[in-house]
Amino acid sequence: MFTEPTIVRAWEHLDDSVRTGEIAFDAVFGTDFFSHLAQHPELSTEFNAAMSQAVAATAAALPSTYDFGRFTTVTDVGGGDGTLLAGVLAAHPGLTGVLFDTAEGLSEAPTTLERHGVAGRCSLAAGDFFRSVPAGSDLYLMKSVLHDWTDDQVVTILRNCRAVLPPGGRVLIVEPVLPEVGDPRAEADVTDGGITYLSDLNMLVNVGGRERTRADFTEVCHRAGLTLTSVTPIAEAAPFSLIEAVAG
Ligand SMILES: C[S@@+](CC[C@H](N)C(=O)[O-])C[C@H]1O[C@@H](n2cnc3c(N)ncnc32)[C@H](O)[C@@H]1O
Repeated sequence: MFTEPTIVRAWEHLDDSVRTGEIAFDAVFGTDFFSHLAQHPELSTEFNAAMSQAVAATAAALPSTYDFGRFTTVTDVGGGDGTLLAGVLAAHPGLTGVLFDTAEGLSEAPTTLERHGVAGRCSLAAGDFFRSVPAGSDLYLMKSVLHDWTDDQVVTILRNCRAVLPPGGRVLIVEPVLPEVGDPRAEADVTDGGITYLSDLNMLVNVGGRERTRADFTEVCHRAGLTLTSVTPIAEAAPFSLIEAVAG
């Protein structure tokens, strides 16, 4: 996906994005990335497949990394084709799931959920997380979603999760956590932060988002009425960490 011609077009204008902070993709294509996907079904299918492939390591590691057993229903916000949620549901037969994404994002979900044998315990919900998030779950999971967006947009998504969070509910963000101070050596080691700096620039040119430090996550959660409770690196799925937050 990173060498897909559409993605590379925006990278040709990296210097503009670095200078201005503007999203190169929008200037080149005259629309934002996700609207462009909605207008180009073949590219959308490729993107969903790339996300599904990229999330596989996390889907294998996550169910045993976090105590899902204390929840009844988990909503995966921006859950794409459902690969991650299917991994969690398959490992926790007592859980039910809600896969929430745009209609385009959900296109391949029925097949994925069926293939993992969890379709009977997982409903699909199409919508816009800037408007609302489905109520009724006690865990709201989000992987590789917040890094697509600016701080203000992230606060809106998190506030919408906060608005439907029941007492005792949790928000679980799965993203890399950058060190507070950049490490120039990290670029040489893709397993140890380097890939995250590259992703940070990819987010800048293609969607206007960014990767974040623990302090950044603490701040956006705080603005959304949430308190960070823990940050746990997932060793088997580096560079991802589990960032848990509760209301308050
Ligand atoms: C980078 S992908 C991550 C997908 C999946 N969580 C994963 O890790 O593989 C971001 C997801 O957010 C979804 N998305 C983008 N804008 C959205 C919106 N306004 N409301 C709901 N979902 C949205 C996309 O369709 C896509 O599936």
